[in-house]
Amino acid sequence: MTAVPRPYIASLPPRPLLRRQFDVLVLGGGIAGLTAAIAAARRWHVGLLTKASLNDTTTFLAQGGIAAALGESDSPDLHFEDTVNAGAGLCDPEAVRVLVNEGPDRVRELIEICPRFDRQNGEIVLGREGAHSVRRVAHAGGDATGREVSSALSEAARVGSRVQLYEDEFAIDLLTIDGRCIGALSLNLADGEYTLNLAMVTILATGGAGQVYARTTNPEVATGDGVAMAYRAGAAIRDLEFVQFHPTGLAVGDSPTPLITEALRGEGALLRNAAGERFMPAVDPKAELASRDVVVRAMNAEMAREGSTHVYLDATGLDADMLVRRFPRVTALLAEHELDLSRDLIPVAPVAHYFIGGVVTDVWGRTTVPGLYAAGEVASTGVHGANRLASNSLLEGLVFGDRVVRHLDRYIGRLGEDVRRLQFELPAQSDQPQQRSDIAAVRRRVTELMSDKVGWVRGDEGLLGALEELRATNSSLRLGAAGPPEFELLNILTLATQITKCALLREESRGVHVRDDYPVRDDYHWQRHITLRLPEPQAARRP
Ligand code: SIN
Repeated sequence: MTAVPRPYIASLPPRPLLRRQFDVLVLGGGIAGLTAAIAAARRWHVGLLTKASLNDTTTFLAQGGIAAALGESDSPDLHFEDTVNAGAGLCDPEAVRVLVNEGPDRVRELIEICPRFDRQNGEIVLGREGAHSVRRVAHAGGDATGREVSSALSEAARVGSRVQLYEDEFAIDLLTIDGRCIGALSLNLADGEYTLNLAMVTILATGGAGQVYARTTNPEVATGDGVAMAYRAGAAIRDLEFVQFHPTGLAVGDSPTPLITEALRGEGALLRNAAGERFMPAVDPKAELASRDVVVRAMNAEMAREGSTHVYLDATGLDADMLVRRFPRVTALLAEHELDLSRDLIPVAPVAHYFIGGVVTDVWGRTTVPGLYAAGEVASTGVHGANRLASNSLLEGLVFGDRVVRHLDRYIGRLGEDVRRLQFELPAQSDQPQQRSDIAAVRRRVTELMSDKVGWVRGDEGLLGALEELRATNSSLRLGAAGPPEFELLNILTLATQITKCALLREESRGVHVRDDYPVRDDYHWQRHITLRLPEPQAARRP
């Protein structure tokens, strides 16, 4: 194997690489990637790479649903207001306008290809979730929205489109020439073959990075690969300190931590402390349906006061038949732990759930690197501000996955013939170390460190200690012939270090970023984003 120098992390075998050539290369098989690929394939030659199968995505696990102003008592203006109020002063109003205005049409189109959205008397049923002022969340198969949407989009991509799908294909590095993205290097996890995937346009839709934390609702593939590789390629990334912790992860056992959907609180489930008392009404007029950041802070105060690791979700007052019908997945998941929603108090604690920050894009999904677009959780469009409104994430993937493709005509049309006939060689090797780190042990330590010191409440001392340890880990890391575990660890380390740096810099509490030493929001100094970008010489250049 041959290790190539940064900005690339790949190690290459001493044989010619395979090559594929596309007009449009899509990385990621969740809602944003599939939406973009299906739309782009109507006109362009499209390849979609996904790290595992199309079922191993965060989209597939989504329970709550997809928010859009579909109801009679709703409007895009009201959805705008709720989104911006939840976003704690950092939403980009132009991006939110796009989201709420285009959302209803995109969801109606989605419903056409995904017929299992729940209906009553022919009308789409809308659920309620935290900080939404009306019922606004369309759902499918009760709490199996992600599974239904994923399956429908995957089927549309496999059968009804000309998208070339490559599963188990790990995108490792973006390829750049003179600062322009021209595709990605990938590794096939089944046969170990490396491939140069060359394309006029690359769309990053690789999802989030929950695996940077020891306890997360995210699937195993969510190791922040997209943000890390975009950063290495010279793209601007921002808002990494805003990691959203979902209030109700099931607090039984270890990671992976299953989600107990917020839609349960939307139907009337309550939060109680160890003494059986409700604590949310004293904190916020919306009580259990306050925005997620408010609920997490209140839970934290309650757990600290009681010296406990969790509080309880109480759905015992709700109709038992309704619970089984509306929440079949949660019901089955709890049954594995011998818990029953209609009978038991469910132990819950905040858990790493969603990366608000990501690769900076404009409202067309353009990143700061020409030829590279981003959509979905990997992107920072500005729609979520400092705290994402529940069920706006599937909507973001859908709306911006579509918009990226609407912009491609303009971008591809302007490209010269030389870029159409792309050629690319990776730079040559560097030396292999003799002694190698224990990758699994390092990864475990890093993710525990993040959960302990850079979790839903952070403070100066913990952050400084974490940063020091992360830097030491980085510099002492000895990688041999790198493979998937090493690539994932490098990506996790990149994100962990940048999250910690940004969390240390932001000396205030805002949205999902809570500092115990700076408990107050400080608009004067901090109503702004923290943007990171590699200095020019280190960013990707012509090899
Ligand atoms: C949930 O079902 O509670 C999760 C929905 C989301 O994160 O938007």
